[in-house]
Amino acid sequence: MDMLDELGRLEEAGEAHTVLPFANALAAELATSLVSSTTNMLPSFIHTLPSGTECGSILALDLGGSTLRVALVELDGRRRRPQILDMHTYAVGDDVKTLGMDDFFDWIVERIHLLIQRTKTNSPQVRDWHAKLRMGVAWSFPIHQTSVNTGLLMGMGKGYRVSEQMQGRDILSCFEAAFLRKGLDISLDAVINDTIATLVSHSYTNPATNVGLILGTGCNAAVACPLSSLGPCKLSDRPAEWLAQAQSVIVNTELSMFGTGILPATRWDRKLAAASDIPGFQPFEEMVSGRYLGEICRLAVLDAVEGSGMFGGVLPSGMESRWGLETTTLSVIEEDQSPLLANASQFFHSIYSSSNATTADMRLLRRICVAVSTRAAALVAASLISLATVAKLSGDICVSFCGSVMEKYPRFRERVQAFLDQLAPHRILLEPTGESGVLGAAMAVAAITTVADAQN
Ligand code: GLC
Repeated sequence: MDMLDELGRLEEAGEAHTVLPFANALAAELATSLVSSTTNMLPSFIHTLPSGTECGSILALDLGGSTLRVALVELDGRRRRPQILDMHTYAVGDDVKTLGMDDFFDWIVERIHLLIQRTKTNSPQVRDWHAKLRMGVAWSFPIHQTSVNTGLLMGMGKGYRVSEQMQGRDILSCFEAAFLRKGLDISLDAVINDTIATLVSHSYTNPATNVGLILGTGCNAAVACPLSSLGPCKLSDRPAEWLAQAQSVIVNTELSMFGTGILPATRWDRKLAAASDIPGFQPFEEMVSGRYLGEICRLAVLDAVEGSGMFGGVLPSGMESRWGLETTTLSVIEEDQSPLLANASQFFHSIYSSSNATTADMRLLRRICVAVSTRAAALVAASLISLATVAKLSGDICVSFCGSVMEKYPRFRERVQAFLDQLAPHRILLEPTGESGVLGAAMAVAAITTVADAQN
């Protein structure tokens, strides 16, 4: 098929009429997994959101694909917005991701130790701390939770080779062993997925929050589901008192894994999937996340250069290999809405200096970028509609979001919102949330402690 015909198909997949059929097909997949899957639709142990009245100083840790954040968070009920008293962000390089398991946890715990030492000197609030420090963890990877602060680690992806030794281990035991080695007296009270942290942290200020969405390098969502929609095998390890109290539970969907066979794939998506490190593992993510938007575009450009004479039939040097066109470049090209695309051209030449792209080339390139990102926005909107269906949400639905694509890609969030406004059966509102990892982890700890105190 001609490149321009395929581009037409890509553009059509971003049109409003495609959203609801895809949302329905996805809802069917999500509902099936909610009953029986062991790899996604993973229930947490969180069944009540923070009331907003929680208080205390709490250590919080947020481990992501490429960064570790370690923070001291202070909650003061509704009197004050949650405060981050101290926070450090560390890059997690390949040297760390390929450590042995004990060394990996020691590396994390060493950074917690540094925070404690710093805070003891700098921050008088330290006097109010409990004898044993309480800590919450936001984990940007799947976990099979076995209680609110324990869970079996699953594959991490994102280059974390250390995960091969960690799979099936209990996260609490791994941390406790490292605390012991370092001589630290810390109680790890809550472990949550980063999407759950996004949901929880926003609900502190907006109790109507029922979905957490992350769309940056990766993509995932969490949603509060009625307990009755989960299959019995999903809840087999819950104690009787948990089951007696819970009416709904926050589920980490691992949304990235859905969509096989129903996603609107072009030949560029199929090429991308075939070159993937784990083919078929995260089909949804491969069409929407920041890690892949640039790559889909690059594969379309390769075709246009060969078949349609784009760039005079010569591929710009630097674009020949995988990841040779970054999503940030797409965002700068799309930002330029002027007829001659002067800013886009200038930026493009600053990266691909050997290219002598004409205005017509830049227009075609921008058309490809818009097609790729608009389809992504349509798919994200559809996924939110399907989550609302599966979780039987009604009334106004608030989606707390974070991640570079939602926050920074030009007009992306607005396009998702426009699809939702036009098509969703309920009002679905997107609301940004900042530092949701550490704040959500701390709030989960505070909420758990408050519930426990109230019961004693
Ligand atoms: C990946 C992980 C998921 C995480 C998401 C966003 O998809 O599997 O657990 O929530 O990235 O960080």
